[in-house]
Amino acid sequence: MSNTAIINGGNRITGELVVQGSKNSVLPILAATVINGGINIIHNCPLIKDVYASIDILRSLGCVVSIEEDTVTVDSSNMSCDEIHQDLMKEMRSSVIFTGAILARCKKALISTPGGCELGPRPIDLHLKVFKALGVDVKETHGYIMLDGENTHCANINLDFPSVGATENAMLLACATPGTTVITNAAQEPEIVDLQDFLNGMGANVKGAGTSTIEISGTNDFCDVSHKVIGDRIVTATYLSAAAVTKGSIKINGINPNHINAITDMFSLCGAKINKGEDFIEMECKTGLNSVSCISTMPHPGFPTDAQALACTVLSVADGTSVVEENIFSSRFRHIPELNRMNADIITKDKLAIIRGVSRLKGASVTAYDLRGAAALIIAGLNAYGTTTVSGLEHLDRGYYLFENQLKNLGADIVRE
Ligand code: UD1
Repeated sequence: MSNTAIINGGNRITGELVVQGSKNSVLPILAATVINGGINIIHNCPLIKDVYASIDILRSLGCVVSIEEDTVTVDSSNMSCDEIHQDLMKEMRSSVIFTGAILARCKKALISTPGGCELGPRPIDLHLKVFKALGVDVKETHGYIMLDGENTHCANINLDFPSVGATENAMLLACATPGTTVITNAAQEPEIVDLQDFLNGMGANVKGAGTSTIEISGTNDFCDVSHKVIGDRIVTATYLSAAAVTKGSIKINGINPNHINAITDMFSLCGAKINKGEDFIEMECKTGLNSVSCISTMPHPGFPTDAQALACTVLSVADGTSVVEENIFSSRFRHIPELNRMNADIITKDKLAIIRGVSRLKGASVTAYDLRGAAALIIAGLNAYGTTTVSGLEHLDRGYYLFENQLKNLGADIVRE
């Protein structure tokens, strides 16, 4: 498949779909499969590039992995290795999440230092602080990090910032570390709750996920586990955005609407009509969109940084001026010059994007530089007059499963060259 999509804008997005499983849930869950030394059955697994990268890591560690439709089975009983090769680390930055799980199982781990990524520098100092607090000896040399967990112990860990990955690494290691570990200022994302549920399914004792304090009592008595991954809240936001910019209506099944309150609040302010059920969300947006005074990205339950690019696209065609503030990543506005090539009127200043809504975007050739930026540019193309060509879709494939097909089923005119 090529890395370019061609979209003829203007079609209404209408219809119904079941959203894929959450990328940010399944990645730490796949890492956690090494802990039990047994069978892990993971349902609702999105077959995206980052999942295949995780499976490559699991196989390199000696795990046996099979895939049948959206179910991935990992047998970690014969895991034979505690090193993640540099090439596999580079494939996906979130592979750092394997470290806590490998330490839990093997008492040592060797990883390479993950570099920066398309969102700017991605330090792992908070992860290393967590490991040190849990008694791991950490040595950094020549681009490698050697971690010795022979003397791990429980701890009270107060995170300087509620990092999602550092919270997950703390949970992964602490669940196999004797005694009770308490994490304060923990990340509260729904994916942390999903990881807690998965770990408890394999015999761990974790409670408090979804709040800022997580308590973990270590054990070494793990069992086989079967788990269904939660629906992807950012992919849900993407389809809602597609309906919003095309005056469409959509029903998305397989999502807990409470996971995306900050996003549905934005759409309500824009004038969309929203109906939430237990595991679905419906949105109708027959009239034009209103601007919103300010959207600020924050750790959950705030507005997610992963939906910031989508918000820029939606607000670029809203009536009036909106402000979007990016507080989580330093280099996450690369979609904005591309939106401006499509006739959007957006200026950026430090963390702020000031968006003056236009009545409609215009088709152009644009390039995606990161995963969510790619989705945001495709959504912009659905709104635009004429033809939009979006290249750089290797980023999209990291997180979206059969995206063009789903959009086509909802009425879009889109082809992947
Ligand atoms: C996760 C998500 C990502 C999302 C992000 C923020 C996964 C696989 N990815 O990434 O999609 O955008 O949460 O919601 O779940 N930081 C440090 N030092 C560290 C760790 C993080 O300074 O050791 C900084 C980061 O550079 C960033 C901020 O903290 O500025 C948030 O990062 P974090 O919450 O850790 O994000 P990830 O877990 O990498």
